Amino acid sequence: APAPLITPSLLDCDFARVGEEIRALEAAGVEALHLDVMDGHFVPNLSYGPPVVADWRAVTDLPFDAHLMISDPARYLDAFVDAGADSILIHLEAVPEPADLLERIRGRGCRAGLVINPPTPWAAVEPHLDRVDSVLVMSVMPGFGGQQFQEAVLEKVRAIRRARPALRVAIDGGINASTAGRAVEAGATQLVVGSATYRPDGNYAASLGEVAEAAR
Ligand code: DX5
Ligand code: ZN
Repeated sequence: APAPLITPSLLDCDFARVGEEIRALEAAGVEALHLDVMDGHFVPNLSYGPPVVADWRAVTDLPFDAHLMISDPARYLDAFVDAGADSILIHLEAVPEPADLLERIRGRGCRAGLVINPPTPWAAVEPHLDRVDSVLVMSVMPGFGGQQFQEAVLEKVRAIRRARPALRVAIDGGINASTAGRAVEAGATQLVVGSATYRPDGNYAASLGEVAEAAR
């Protein structure tokens, strides 16, 4: 399989010094950043919103994938686009009829992605594949970093891959050097890496390199 795009998540980083974390990730050669936005309602945790994203936009040119784990993404779409998001990922569980919102996302010049939680079946996302630039398959229930990879979701990765070989298929949750290989083998073309990115020595080229190596 071709090398997957590896996008570190800004969630388990050091929030006291995110600018330095972003510079370290740039130095490690990453091509995009995954931003985990949580509203304390769709998921049982809170993270950050548009003003924070706008401040990060001012310190890097890396593309931002905004993973919106929020109950009402339509309400905040413009704010995230204005803050500098390049790709907007919405949960099908939050927006069961996503066609209009996906069109709005593209209308604002962003890539549109649909996200599905582990219990959501492949059949639920299948009708929308022609409206998206990517599908993000969650391999944990969203809300927290550091959870265990759920192998069973790989069946959905395979199904999406079979149905749309050209579509970007990302996987998020529990990805590390021991799970990345299976995800890519199943057809994932993008790996979101949270807790496995960050290690005390700050050598993210090494931590992400191990994931890349395992994905070969
Ligand atoms: C889960 C988030 C993930 C998370 C991944 O709520 O959507 O992006 O940060 O973290 P790890 O890789 O530690 O599971
Ligand atoms: Zn995420």
